[in-house]
Amino acid sequence: MTAREKPKNLWMGRWGFVLAATGSSVGLGNIWKFPYMTGEYGGGAFVLVYLACIAAIGIPIMIAEIGFGRRGRGSPIDAIRRVARESGRGSGWSLIGWMAMLCGFMILSFYVVVAGWSVSYLWKAISGGLNADSVDGMAAIFAANNANPWNLGFWSTLVTLATMFIVGKGVQEGIERSVSWMMPGLVIMLLIMIGYAMFSGGFGAAVDFLFGFELGKLSSEGLLAAMGHCFFTLSLASGAIMTYGAYLPDGKSIARTTFVVAICDTTVALMAGLAIFPIIFANGMDPSSGPGLIFMSLPLAFQQMPFGTLLEIIFFIMLTVAALTSAISMVEATIAWLNESKGISRVKASWGVGILLWIVSTLAMLSFNVGADWTLAGKHFFGWLDYLTSRFMMPLGGLGMAVLAGFVLRNEIFRSELGLSNAQHALWLFMIRYVSPLGIVLIFIDALGVMDL
Ligand code: PHE
Ligand code: NA
Repeated sequence: MTAREKPKNLWMGRWGFVLAATGSSVGLGNIWKFPYMTGEYGGGAFVLVYLACIAAIGIPIMIAEIGFGRRGRGSPIDAIRRVARESGRGSGWSLIGWMAMLCGFMILSFYVVVAGWSVSYLWKAISGGLNADSVDGMAAIFAANNANPWNLGFWSTLVTLATMFIVGKGVQEGIERSVSWMMPGLVIMLLIMIGYAMFSGGFGAAVDFLFGFELGKLSSEGLLAAMGHCFFTLSLASGAIMTYGAYLPDGKSIARTTFVVAICDTTVALMAGLAIFPIIFANGMDPSSGPGLIFMSLPLAFQQMPFGTLLEIIFFIMLTVAALTSAISMVEATIAWLNESKGISRVKASWGVGILLWIVSTLAMLSFNVGADWTLAGKHFFGWLDYLTSRFMMPLGGLGMAVLAGFVLRNEIFRSELGLSNAQHALWLFMIRYVSPLGIVLIFIDALGVMDL
């Protein structure tokens, strides 16, 4: 056996990793993407499949991914190569790491645009720009905010700069501190909004929509979307969780940590749904309005609430912080790799990656204005970045990790790394060998239309 790599930098507190992983996973995926996808794919059936994917695919793979990171103590490329080599396997497996890093970069390229929406709405809330009194009025504000590339580009550039600045500094403590107030804060805000939503007249309809499980309603496309979103929302197969796992001290329970993160993430997503859909139904808005859904519905509710403007400002601050703690996790892998394997300082690496990111994200930003017609198969560039990562790269990366962990590596590696009891380990092994990969493969096959599930 090769000597274990020494950890480079470890999370500070006992809760450090949990906080950081939660910061990575809870983000725009929960509050922006989950509601609008649920709306697009018709509600309850999507939610049910999403929850099933979290349990059967997301959690076992997250356990494996953190295990790879901690065992290999490095960027996804190095970590996977080391762990594979420990079992006498070739470095070809590190392709999974390459794809994960590329995936994290591609996600970040459109994520900063959405985070830019959040910051621009924070600014609008402060300066009184969210004062429409109808759904149509709010939709017009959203459209106007997108229409001018200089305006939209300003906000996404700001987010890009903030992300690279924080990453360049190397961030453990900062992340830990911000997540420890942001998470409870976000939950309190969502509770307030759910409380308001209960009296808005749309709550019953929203609960029916979210939890009325009619599986027949879900298309193959929706099935694949739900699986892809399970990876996205848990930050899997995109470098983030594996790289954070590399900073996890030995002896901490990986499985327990995973459950905490997955439960927090799922809770926030469901709460966001319960806060947003009542507003949508009470105001006669179309649930399938797409990516603008929360930006058109939430401000309307804040308009009608007591202390609405103040709450709105607090909400968009938190959404922005939640977005930033996710955003930095998407490039941490690349920065760690450039730093550890190529000897480039974190600051220099952040500048280099940041410039590339700015170019690609600007192209993504243009999808909402001058580049709206630059489409391929009906999707603009922003749409393609989202589609390729969630529907293909992350599920494929997850499949690769499951096969590697479940079948290829020597059993002792994950036995000692996870430190589970015999029964627990057997359960995890069963999930990672059969349930997760089969789930992924079946959903892929179904989406290809070769076979009807
Ligand atoms: N999980 C984050 C969210 O839900 C997004 C993310 C994806 C973060 C991939 C890191 C890596 O907002
Ligand atoms: Na998430």
